[in-house]
Amino acid sequence: MKTLIGNRSAVTLILIASALILSFLFWLIYFRETPVEGSSLNLTILPPLNALLNLMSATCLIFGFKAIRRGNRVRHKKMMLSALLFSFLFLVSYLTYHAFHGDTLFQGEGWVRPLYFFILISHIILSVVVLPLILTTVFFAATGNFTIHPKIARITLPLWMYISVTGVLVYLMLYQL
Ligand code: HEM
Repeated sequence: MKTLIGNRSAVTLILIASALILSFLFWLIYFRETPVEGSSLNLTILPPLNALLNLMSATCLIFGFKAIRRGNRVRHKKMMLSALLFSFLFLVSYLTYHAFHGDTLFQGEGWVRPLYFFILISHIILSVVVLPLILTTVFFAATGNFTIHPKIARITLPLWMYISVTGVLVYLMLYQL
């Protein structure tokens, strides 16, 4: 009973923290005047770096999943925490690029346009959903609750994977097509 209440409070706190973080990020990305002073900086390295960080994250998720299916808990933990680090670094790098450079408009015409926006919008919506899911999944792993951890993690993992892979696709469609 005590643990259940403890878990409920922790999940409530995670939801509140996620809502605050996401509101701040949305303000930063969509409502703040951009770009800030210093936009003459050479930022061309950041978009491919962002795509690489997403790719690293997706790769760690695959290896982390394989590890736990083989019963290797230590490797699973290392891979999942690495995926978390790569996604965090992506967020920092993305915000830096956005702050100094502003939006990049999609130039494609024809059938590729609705496809691009479907990928981009689903990527953004699922990113909002996945933040509290990742924090909750890590919370149950960190507190040693391996009954609830896998149950939530089985939802978190495919969503996180989708976000990382579509992050790479958005980059390729914006800069390489
Ligand atoms: C957000 C990051 C994480 C994700 C997405 C994740 C994902 C998963 C998934 C999908 C499973 C179930 C695998 C199956 O279907 O058989 C699982 C199980 C497990 N995870 Fe994680 N995991 C994460 C973080 C961690 C961390 C940090 C630890 C270590 C403290 C950990 C320890 C475990 C263990 C021990 C199991 C096996 C539980 C059992 O069935 O006995 N996980 N995880």
